[in-house]
Amino acid sequence: MTEQKQALFTIFGATGDLAKRKLYPSLFRLFKKGELADNFAVIGTARRPWTNEYYREVVLESIKDLMNSKTEAENFASHFYYQSHDVSDSSHYVNLKDLGEKLRKQYKTAGNQVFFLAMAPQFFGTIAEHLKSENILTGEGFERIVIEKPFGTSYDTAKSLNDSLVKVFSEEQIFRIDHYLGKEMIQNIFAIRFGNLIFDNLWNRDFIDNIQITFAERLGVEERGGYYDHSGALRDMVQNHTLQLLSLLAMDKPATFTKDAIRAEKIKVFEQLHNPTDDELKKFFIRGQYHSGTIEGKKDISYRSEPNVDPESTTETYASGAFFVDSDRFRGVPFFFRTGKRLTQKGTMVNVVFKQTDSIFGHSLQPNVLTIYIQPNEGFSLSINGKEVGEKFSIAPISFDYETDATATGASPEPYEKLIFDVLNNDSTNYSHWHEVRASWQLIDRIEKLWAENGAPLYEYKSGSMGPTASDDLLADYGAEWVWKPEPKN
Ligand code: BG6
Repeated sequence: MTEQKQALFTIFGATGDLAKRKLYPSLFRLFKKGELADNFAVIGTARRPWTNEYYREVVLESIKDLMNSKTEAENFASHFYYQSHDVSDSSHYVNLKDLGEKLRKQYKTAGNQVFFLAMAPQFFGTIAEHLKSENILTGEGFERIVIEKPFGTSYDTAKSLNDSLVKVFSEEQIFRIDHYLGKEMIQNIFAIRFGNLIFDNLWNRDFIDNIQITFAERLGVEERGGYYDHSGALRDMVQNHTLQLLSLLAMDKPATFTKDAIRAEKIKVFEQLHNPTDDELKKFFIRGQYHSGTIEGKKDISYRSEPNVDPESTTETYASGAFFVDSDRFRGVPFFFRTGKRLTQKGTMVNVVFKQTDSIFGHSLQPNVLTIYIQPNEGFSLSINGKEVGEKFSIAPISFDYETDATATGASPEPYEKLIFDVLNNDSTNYSHWHEVRASWQLIDRIEKLWAENGAPLYEYKSGSMGPTASDDLLADYGAEWVWKPEPKN
C-alpha cells in the first residue's frame, strides 16, 4: 500500500501559468495514486485578491481532463487555500504564517513544508529571507524549497541568487528544477548506460566518435517574446537542459545508484567541461535567428516580427556547437548540440555515434549509432551492420527500434509529477546542484560575452529548416554529420 505523504505546500505564483499547467495537475496525479491523501494542504499565494472558492475553481479547471469523478476532484481541491500576498511586504508574511499554522494542525502535516517558487526570479531571495525572518520556518519537520528556472541569467546573478538562498536553506534543502531531468527517457539514460554491459564497456573515447544532442522545436517564441528576447537559446536551453543532459551522458559510473554518488559524478563532469580558448570559442559555437518561412503551406513570421520582440533584435533563437569534457573517459570527443525554435519538427534526441570498425569487406561501413528518443517519441534504436538477404554479399545497417508515442499513450508520468514526488522523498538526483549551475554559467558567460560583443556572426535561418548550415560545417570539420536530418515540409 502507498504510504501517503504529509506536507504543507506553499506555492508562490499560484495564479500563474506554470501553476495551472503543471503544478496542480501533478499534485492531482499524486493524489489519485494515493501519495497525497488526507495529510496535505496547499496555500496558493499571489498578488491578486482571490477567494478560496475562486482558487478552488481554478484548480478544478486545471485538472478537468484528469478527473474520474467530481467528488474525487472536489475532495482534492478542498485542500487548497488562497492567501493574497505581496512578497516584499513583511506584514503579509504574518497572514501566511497564521494560515500555515492552522493548516498544519488541521491536516496533520507533521510540520513538513515545501515552498514552491513559481514566479519571477528577482523575488526568490526576498521570499527566502522573509520565510526565515517571519518564522515561517520552524524546523519542526522537513523544509524544502523548489526553485523554478531560470536560476540566474549569468554567473553573477546566479551566484547572488544562490547566496541569498543559502543564508536560509542548506544545499540539501534547495531543489533547483530542470524539468528535462524529470523526463522518462532522460532518466532512462542511467539504465541504458549502466544496465547493459555492451554500453557500459564501450562508453568512452576509445569507442565513441561523437555524441549529438538535438533539442528541436517547431514552435516559435509564441507569447513569451518579452522574456525570450532578453534570454535567447543559449540561456534558455543550453545552460540548463543541454548541459544537464550532457553530464548524464559523460559522467563516470557512480559507485552506487544513489543521489550522493550520482551527484558527485555529475559535478565532476561540470568541473571538467573544457574551457575553450578564444579561438575555439569562435569556432565551436554558432548562433542563428529565424526569419519567415512556409511550412506545410502555412507561413511563419520572422522572429523580429513576433510580439514583444525588438524589431532589430540580435537575440539568437538557435544555438549549436561542440562541448568537450576533459576527462580520461571523453577527452577529445565532441558533444555536438543544437537547439532552436521554428525548426523542421519537434524532436529531442541523442545520437551516440560509435567509431567505425576496421573493415575487412573492401569498403568502409556505417558506424553503429545508438539513438535515444526523448520526445515526442520515447525509446531507443541501435543501428548495426548486417548482410542483406540475397546471393551477393552486401552489408547494410539494420536498425533495432523500440519506440512509443508516449504523448499519445499517456504512458509516461509528467516530469513535474516525478519531480514533486522526488522532493517529498528528499531525492535530489534529478535536480541541479549549485556546483553544476555555477560551472555551466561560467562557460556560458564566455560565449554570451563573445556574442554580445558581436564577435561571431548571427546567421539567419529559414523557419522550417534545421538551422544555419554553419552547424553542419562544424560537424564536417570533425568528419561527422548530423545523424537526424528531418525532411523539410515546405
Ligand atoms: C523551457 C524553455 O525550459 O523548455 C522553453 O524555456 C522551451 O523555451 C521548453 O520551449 C521546452 O520544453 P519541452 O518540455 O516542451 O520540450
